[in-house]
Parts: sequence; structure tokens; C-alpha cells
Amino acid sequence: MRKLLPLIGNSHGGGRSALTCRYRCGDACFHEVPNKSDNEYVGDVIARAYSRRSMLRSAAVVTVASAAGTAITLGGNGSSATAAPAADAQGGAADAAGARGLRFKAIAPNTDDRVTVPEGYEQNVVIRWGDPIVKGAPGFNSDKQTAAAQAGQFGYNNDFLSLLPLGDDYERRQLLVANHEYTDENLMFKGYDPANPTREQVEIAWAAHGLGVVVVQEDHRSGKLTAVNRHQLNRRLTATSEFQLTGPAAGSPLVKTSADPTGTKVLGTLNNCSGGTTPWGTTLHGEENFNQYFANAGQVTDATEAARLKRYGVTAGATERKWERFDKRFDVLQEPNESHRFGWVVELDPYDPHSTPRKRTALGRFKHEGAQPRLTEDGRPVVYMGDDEKFDYFYKFVSSKQMKKGDSRAAKEHNLTLLDEGTLYVAKLTGDSPAAEFDGTGKLPSDGQFDGSGAWIKLLTSSPSGNVSHVEGMTAEEVAVFTRVAADKVGATKMDRPEDIEPSPRTGRVYVVLTNNSDRGKAGKAGVDEANPRNVNKHGQILELAENFDDPAGDGFAWRLFLVAGDPKDPATFFAGFPKEKVSPISCPDNVTFDPHGNLWISTDGNQLGSHDGLFGVATAGERRGELKQFLTVPRGAETCGPLVQDKRVLVAVQHPGEIDGASVEKPQSVWPDGPGKIVRPAVVSVWRKDGKNIGI
Ligand code: FEO
Ligand code: CA
Ligand code: CA
Repeated sequence: MRKLLPLIGNSHGGGRSALTCRYRCGDACFHEVPNKSDNEYVGDVIARAYSRRSMLRSAAVVTVASAAGTAITLGGNGSSATAAPAADAQGGAADAAGARGLRFKAIAPNTDDRVTVPEGYEQNVVIRWGDPIVKGAPGFNSDKQTAAAQAGQFGYNNDFLSLLPLGDDYERRQLLVANHEYTDENLMFKGYDPANPTREQVEIAWAAHGLGVVVVQEDHRSGKLTAVNRHQLNRRLTATSEFQLTGPAAGSPLVKTSADPTGTKVLGTLNNCSGGTTPWGTTLHGEENFNQYFANAGQVTDATEAARLKRYGVTAGATERKWERFDKRFDVLQEPNESHRFGWVVELDPYDPHSTPRKRTALGRFKHEGAQPRLTEDGRPVVYMGDDEKFDYFYKFVSSKQMKKGDSRAAKEHNLTLLDEGTLYVAKLTGDSPAAEFDGTGKLPSDGQFDGSGAWIKLLTSSPSGNVSHVEGMTAEEVAVFTRVAADKVGATKMDRPEDIEPSPRTGRVYVVLTNNSDRGKAGKAGVDEANPRNVNKHGQILELAENFDDPAGDGFAWRLFLVAGDPKDPATFFAGFPKEKVSPISCPDNVTFDPHGNLWISTDGNQLGSHDGLFGVATAGERRGELKQFLTVPRGAETCGPLVQDKRVLVAVQHPGEIDGASVEKPQSVWPDGPGKIVRPAVVSVWRKDGKNIGI
């Protein structure tokens, strides 16, 4: 019989297992917090500003003025709970009266080793780690893995997902794009010895990282999707594929290496977490915890470079996976600039299987969680981005060029330059309530809202006619490559781990997911503020931000907390003012998406409430604003990633199933997806209604 380890109580950062922490982010939570700047946190700013602020507010509407004097409003339903209808999101009622798109019976939190979906819903596994996708790739055999096979098979640990339309020639087919964030060799290889990985294991891991593109076939009568193996559009990009650096850092001495004296050609993409889909038909992929793959930063003697490496958390000694033993580029003592070539947003044209993906350096370099664009009124892309580290920042990039419509070759070529030209900003937040009202418990301030105003501070303007640094003492190239250092200098606001950031296609409001921060308020660390109001923040919060929608390129915004996550019985939680006894418990929000009705869907990473991770839907407008309902849970040890909601289906990437401390191929801690005796495989799952109707209607 399998011996199951205790499910909860392994309190590695945000409730994850030690194994996940080690392989996913290189134990980021256990290292010194990289942000040593003395940047103010919101509390400092409030203390200074409160006395001179006039309070232009009512119970339901928050208005601030941008620097240009333009009114920005977050709109109504901020805290009103007066019209909340009866509902029982915790599993009691078949809630036919829920918000449109969320009319399903919420599932109860649980620890079942499977994907649990609401009554009346069905599911299938779309594609698994190791399934052959590229022509010539062999079927998966866990005992006969090779790097060559893996390079043509679906990669490990699927995270971000995008579904793109295909034309009339491809009836009922879509193009699925997936990130393969990281490998867990303990769960991939029998007899894995972490101290002595073999070259073959390392090369398989290189091939299991990266991106995957695969055509998927829709079922006629349901939301079921099936992968079309070996289709000509199918593609894998790995840790050794060619990528091009574009924008202000391309060709800079800061990114030149012995293998690439041009500073423009990078091999590989690493730790792709979340991403985005552009209106011009490309996908964006955040390179997140890239630091963990590079060794020996602790021995760098140049003080400036040592400080920069430390700010990015590059590994001081040997890395967990020991890749530096097999390729010198992973050793910063031998290739000092190789790590500077990771930590970017990658843009991929998935419709062209021969295209070289680009690393867009105008968007800055940090631990990119994702990058979701929208267009300004005049058609310029704005990309919102989080830097997922405790006490780090969130950013936006505003292109100076307008998107061209249509799919002509000229339009396509033009649109592939949009993210090379524009301005990068970092966010600074100010609260509107007195600092004394924030005691670290999460108690609402007397005005009934965690809210305030904010400024986008310019860091870098990129242009073919010359790149401009807006940061004193740093060149444009330095701001691009060492963006964290630049943001420290301009006094950006230290947040509780900014993860996904997505603008609502309906309202234009932007949702900034802050997953948790176990160090908030600890000795020597930043204390609470109005945007990050809980000490030792276990459960996270979601911030709602409004720019002047006529001018999202503007430099001012209004913000308020939309959700303060946790057990609704905990007084320190907040669900946009919706009655808390009627919502599902939620912990550690991470990736988000919007459904066709404008509801926000939230996946979690590291539930601290004793349940497996899950996917939740919540209305962001109307009288049910804040009514959060749980739609699914994932198997043991897994994280819910890459959510997408279409009319007929909900798609999730089940990442790192079975990743529980002590787990190995020989001692699996999950039997998902193929049952006992089969190796555990991360996989993409589609969920639909058995009666064929649309999701949540
Ligand atoms: Fe890969 Fe920030 O989660
Ligand atoms: Ca307030
Ligand atoms: Ca994530």
C-alpha cells in the first residue's frame, strides 16, 4: 500500500511542498529576500500624505485625479453588499441564480487525488507530459526516456495555456500553446540521484523545459479536446532552441557571451510561468525563476556585478540540477553574462512553426510571472507584468506604436515590432486611510476600503532612434537588464509577490494578483500597508486597478483591494463586500483569466486551508460582485495553472501532481492521471457540461 505523507503542515512558502519549492523556484522563500532597497511601503507614504489629501469618495465610487488632472474611477459596487442574493457557494445549493457564467453548484474544498468538477460537468485529459506532438517523436515510455524523444514530446509541468483560433481549413480545431515551467527529476527518473545527475537526465530536462505548440481537435457535442499528434503546426521549443534578443539590451556588452559575441542569439527559454495572448495573434511567456539554473554567483568578486546577481537571487554555489557540470554557460564564473539573457518576456508566433521566438528586452528583466496585453483607445498595446518575489514590484509597458489590423504579411511584420518600442513603468501606490488603521490583522480601515491612488513611474523608453533611461545613474541598457535595481531607485512599492495581472476585457479594470508573503511585517522587513494589509500574509489578495480607459498610457491610477483571500470565517478576509458566508474559501491566488461574461477566474498555488489547489470564478461587476465559487480542485501535490474559459469549456494545466516531500518515481504520492502503477504525469484537462450547454449558464 502506498504510504501517504501528511497532506498539510508542510508549510513551505504558501503551503507548497519542499520539493516544489526546490525545483520550481530554487527555494526562493528560504533565501534572503533579494529586495534590500529602503523603498517606502504604502504606510510611509500615507503617513506623509494623509494630512494633505482631500477625500473625494463616496461609499461606492472612488475617484482620483491623474497627474494630468483626468478623473479616474473604479466604478460602483465597491463595498455594497445590500442587494446580495441568497446563495450557498460552499456546496449546498445548485445555484441557478448565480451570476451569468457562474451558475454551477460550487464544489466543496477537498483532498481527493483527482480533478473534481461540479455536478453535471465532465472532463478529459487533453495531453500529458511525454505525449508525442512533433513528427517523428516516439510514444512516451517512462523507462526509455531520451533527450531526442523529449524534444518532440509535450514538455514537463505545463503552466500557462493559450488557445488560438485556426482558419476554415481547420474546422473545429484550435492551436494550444503551453509553457513548460520546470522539471522535477525525482518524479521523472527512476533511481534519480540529485547529487549526481547523468548527462542523459540533464539533457532530457533541457528538452522538457520551454514551450509547446499543439493543434487540438474539438469534439462536436462537448467541450472535449483531443491533441492532434504530429500536426505540421506542432512544435517544441526547449532550453537549447534558438531565441533572438530584441529591443534596447540586444547587442549590449551586458548580454554578450563567448558563444554569442553579437549579444542577440540566446539558446533556450527557462522557467516559463504564466504569459499572455496578444490581439495580433502571438503569445507571451514570462521567464520566471531563471536565477536557480545559474551557479556560483557567491564567488563573483566584482562588487557591482555581485550585487546585481544577488538582487536577482542567482544561486550562490552549485545549483539543484547541477547543469553547470554539463554546460559552462550555467556557471557565472565561466560565462558572467549568460544569466542576463534570461528573465525576459518571450514573444512567440505560434502560427509559424519556423519562426524564431524573441526575447523582448524593452519589457524589462525580472522574475516575469506573465504578460497580458490590451490596447489603448488608439490601438497601442499596454502589457501588465508582475515580478513574483516577496516585496517586489509590478510594471507596465506601453508601446509607442499602433497595432495594424488584418493578417497581411506587412501587418504581421509590423506587429512583431510593437513590443520593442515604448515605455516601461513601475507602480507606486499610496493608500488613503491613516497608517495607524493598519495593524497587520487585515482589519478593514474605517472608510470600509483598502484603497488609494497610484503612479506609474517611468523607467525606460525604447526606440530605434535611441533608448532613454529615466533612472539617474543608469544607462538605458542597464535599466533593461537590471530592471529591479532601476525600480529600487525610483521608489516603487514593495508588494506581496505580484503574480498574474490581467485587464478585464469588459470593464478595463486591471486585476493584480498578490499570492502571499510569509515575511511581511517580520523584523527588518517592510510592514503592512493599505495594499498589503496583513502581516505574515498566508493567503494573498487581489488588487483592482483602474486607469483612465481613454488613456491607459497615462501615469495615474486608482486602486482598491477586490479580494483579501482566506477562509471566509476569518474576519481578515474581504470579498468585494459580498456576504462572506456565501463564498468559497480561497488561498494563494495565482493565475487568472476572464470568461466570455467578464467574470474573473482564479487558480491557486499553495492552498493553506487544507484543501487541494483549485479554480474559482468570481463576478467583478453587478450585484453579485465578489461572489466567489469554487469550480474544480486538482490532484494531490498539484497546482492549478493556465486557466482558460471558453463558452463550452474550461481548460486547466495540472502542474506538478504528486510533488509531495519524499515522493519519487518509486514512491509516487499521486496516481493521477493514469492510475496506480503508472508514472505521474502533469497534463492539460478540459472540462465541459454533460448537457452540452455553455459553462455556467
Ligand atoms: Fe511560477 Fe509565480 O508562479
Ligand atoms: Ca481606505
Ligand atoms: Ca504562477
